Amino acid sequence: MVSYQAQTELLMLIVFVFPSWIANAVPVIFGGGTPMDFGRKFKDDTRILGDGKTWRGFLAGVLGGAVMGVIAAYVCPSQWNIYANRESYYISGVLMGIGAMIGDSLGSFIKRRMRVDQGRPIVLLDQLTFLYVAIAFSIAAVPFNLDWFAVLFLTVVTYAIHAFFNFLSHQIGLKKVPW
Ligand code: CTP
Ligand code: MG
Repeated sequence: MVSYQAQTELLMLIVFVFPSWIANAVPVIFGGGTPMDFGRKFKDDTRILGDGKTWRGFLAGVLGGAVMGVIAAYVCPSQWNIYANRESYYISGVLMGIGAMIGDSLGSFIKRRMRVDQGRPIVLLDQLTFLYVAIAFSIAAVPFNLDWFAVLFLTVVTYAIHAFFNFLSHQIGLKKVPW
């Protein structure tokens, strides 16, 4: 059995990354419009990011992360001590949002350089770049104690959640493809 303390620690890890998950999910619903690369191509004559990365989606993602940070600040029991004060939750939420959106765009940039068309899947890059950049942005400003086990745990859980929600968005017609 997993001890009560271990369960709490795993739950805290999930609360810690939650703003990045929300940030990564909301553009699917609220995205669209002007692409971030304004339709421009890179020197390899392929789109810099492609039509799947839009300004509206980026802003929606950052806002989603921020809102989640505010919610977390109010619902987290104080004995969890994820962060010392509410401000830290807010800052972390905003930075996870920005980091997730930059990481997600970086993923698309790499995909385009690898000649993977927009919307086509690429394992690991699609599910994880946003996570690592989000975590890096957040812990750069608001310290959070992460060991390698925690990073591995978050990697596996994020991958699984991503796969599940993409399948769901496909089923309910939000996404054309199940990845
Ligand atoms: N989206 C957006 N703006 C963003 C990120 C996502 O508008 N900054 C929306 C787009 O409608 C996009 C959808 O969310 O098609 C799914 O996002 P994602 O899977 O990241 O993009 P893909 O379309 O798969 O494109 P890519 O191949 O570049 O990852
Ligand atoms: Mg995709």
